[in-house]
Amino acid sequence: MPRAKGQGRPAREKAGARGAEAAREPPLTLGVSGLGFVGVAMSVAFAHYGHDVVGYDVVDRRREEVGRGHAPFFDPGLEEELSSAVKSGRLRVAKDRESFFRDADVVFLCLPTPSRSDGSVETSFLEEEALRLGKLLRRSRSWKLIVVKSTSPPGTVRKIERIIAGESGKKPGEDFSVASNPEFLAEGNLVRDALEPSRIVVGTSDERSERTLRQAYSGFPGPFVALPPTSSELVKYSSNALLAVKVSFANEIARLAEKVGSDVYPVMEAVGMDPRLGKAFLRAGPGFGGSCFPKDLKGLVAFARQMGVPLPVTDAALNVNETQARHVVDLAETASGGLLAGREVALLGLAFKRDTDDVRESRAYPILGELLKRGALVRLHDPKAAESFRAGLPKILSVDPGPRVRFCETPEEALRGANLALVQCDWEEYAALPPSAWKELKDRLVIDARRSVDPATMRRAGVRYVAIGKGEP
Ligand code: UDX
Repeated sequence: MPRAKGQGRPAREKAGARGAEAAREPPLTLGVSGLGFVGVAMSVAFAHYGHDVVGYDVVDRRREEVGRGHAPFFDPGLEEELSSAVKSGRLRVAKDRESFFRDADVVFLCLPTPSRSDGSVETSFLEEEALRLGKLLRRSRSWKLIVVKSTSPPGTVRKIERIIAGESGKKPGEDFSVASNPEFLAEGNLVRDALEPSRIVVGTSDERSERTLRQAYSGFPGPFVALPPTSSELVKYSSNALLAVKVSFANEIARLAEKVGSDVYPVMEAVGMDPRLGKAFLRAGPGFGGSCFPKDLKGLVAFARQMGVPLPVTDAALNVNETQARHVVDLAETASGGLLAGREVALLGLAFKRDTDDVRESRAYPILGELLKRGALVRLHDPKAAESFRAGLPKILSVDPGPRVRFCETPEEALRGANLALVQCDWEEYAALPPSAWKELKDRLVIDARRSVDPATMRRAGVRYVAIGKGEP
């Protein structure tokens, strides 16, 4: 859990290697450009550890909202941390880029790096910002450190450095420096991951940048790993790819377990007891979604292809993921006697995972698409993500599903009178439903693609429970 307020000592007072060095340096103002998931979480964390933080975003409303201490999206504990950071005066939002750049000693670029249609990474937001910062740097007399926090292919730091040097006429390493500092923040856990990082990885080309980043992270727990920029950039992609490989591997074994009458969950529990492997990210499910895994894996594969290096393991993880939604719907179809056409399915959980309202790359989209393709009618429910899911529908579905798709206010409403339920997301709320709610299903059938509802509740409800990764013994 995030540590209690006040437990993180202010940077200047913090003891220990990073803190002691930092104590000798004049205090820094840390600038965060881009107040999305990463930017807000990092601003809050820097402020938590006593740093002076200034944020900036091109969107007026975002600046205004964050400046008032309101989180622009839901993530547990974020609103409280943000509001306390703003109230304490340690975090403020600049009204324009000029004053932001003037005040910041270090600028963390937390800007989007979306996928292009071929999977490669679009770094134009970073490049355009580098041009604008380069212009401002021309008039600046102080050394600035620009830090690329956005996930971006190896070589991006160098590219940003060239752009800023060209635009400002200033010398990299002397008048300014550019560094890499990837983030490892998981949604639903943003505050804890920001406050207690498993490691702080930086990629720097000069001693001053490394020293400055050590100071920026003074007070934070976790090892500080200093690498050259290209290696730091590669750490982020490799971490996400390896985690996604674990998920896809569990999903692959889940399919086999279903066939041979085994259960992938205890199997992976036992596999993960080997400390060389670890238990995390071995939970079979509907496949990985979110803003990072699908995009970053495709980005890594595309980048490596450009370099002439095939990455078959990463490619395979993507392939398994792309077929997993179909596999989940196959389970539902088989359990329904081979026919979904005309049946009404309650699809529970639309977020890409629990505790977030984020639906980016949520597996609920391909699952819904597949259900509609097979002629099912679908009722949708999510406690937090229904609106954003609805907004994303036209982009995903090629034809308007019309009345075949209906949003429900409560899970009970979704279940009442539907034929079967398919649990896509492991919200606590679904696990807490009483047997009476599940009893309302006409076919008394539940497909649990997350292994999140209790089989005993299902038994009490007289419901047939089909769990991903579990075959009939
Ligand atoms: C991830 C990384 O964890 C984070 O370090 C990085 O900075 C951004 O990408 P996030 O996308 O927020 O974070 O979610 P994460 O918890 O990693 O889950 C990714 C996907 O994998 C989700 O769809 C999740 O449901 C799925 N998953 C995860 C599984 O299906 N099984 C698992 O065992 C773990």
